[in-house]
Amino acid sequence: MPKLQIIISSTRPGRVGPSIGAWVAEQAGARGGFDVELIDLADVDLPLFDEPKHPRLGDYAHDHTQRWAASVASADAFVFVMAEYNHSFTAPLKNALDFLSAEWQHKPVGFVSYGGVAAGTRAVQAIKPVVAALSMIPAGPAVNIAFVGQKIDSTGTLRADDAMEAAAKLMFDELARWIEVLAPLRPGR
Ligand SMILES: Cc1cc2nc3c(=O)[nH]c(=O)nc-3n(C[C@H](O)[C@H](O)[C@H](O)COP(=O)(O)O)c2cc1C
Repeated sequence: MPKLQIIISSTRPGRVGPSIGAWVAEQAGARGGFDVELIDLADVDLPLFDEPKHPRLGDYAHDHTQRWAASVASADAFVFVMAEYNHSFTAPLKNALDFLSAEWQHKPVGFVSYGGVAAGTRAVQAIKPVVAALSMIPAGPAVNIAFVGQKIDSTGTLRADDAMEAAAKLMFDELARWIEVLAPLRPGR
């Protein structure tokens, strides 16, 4: 079964990222067809990029990079759970992307964004050239959650509506299609 990694991209204390990530993982599990893994960049705990060689060489000096590389290499597709910070995506996510190269390549990525009135959509638009540089395929269907603070209850659970669930399903279906289409570009998998 293909592995879908859901990556929480905010790391600050008090963040809502884990609430959104838990919902995405639940939705992906309910759909079926994926081995779902929830990754929290706060737990991955990478330093600011500190590899001496270009990641394209895959010659990683540090244990933390080798661990991160093994984790990302094990995935067939991703969902980035994206906070919007100053009209863009988070620094921890850019850092986590920059650490690696081939491990991201020829894999599809879906976006679940959140924020205020713009629902994190500026963060999604900002990351598209970055994932393209890594030869990733951005899924068109996405989940964009506006006024996210109002949608999380006192237990920290995201109160999703039908439209959000329908959007998530479209995104997962698209990721599943891209996994099939991209398989010939990933020989040995
Ligand atoms: C540094 C910072 C910048 C922010 N910039 C934006 C923004 O540009 N657009 C927006 O809709 N919300 C913005 N917000 C509000 C976030 O959408 C909101 O705090 C959200 O909970 C952040 O995700 P997190 O809780 O997972 O960190 C910003 C929040 C922070 C902390």
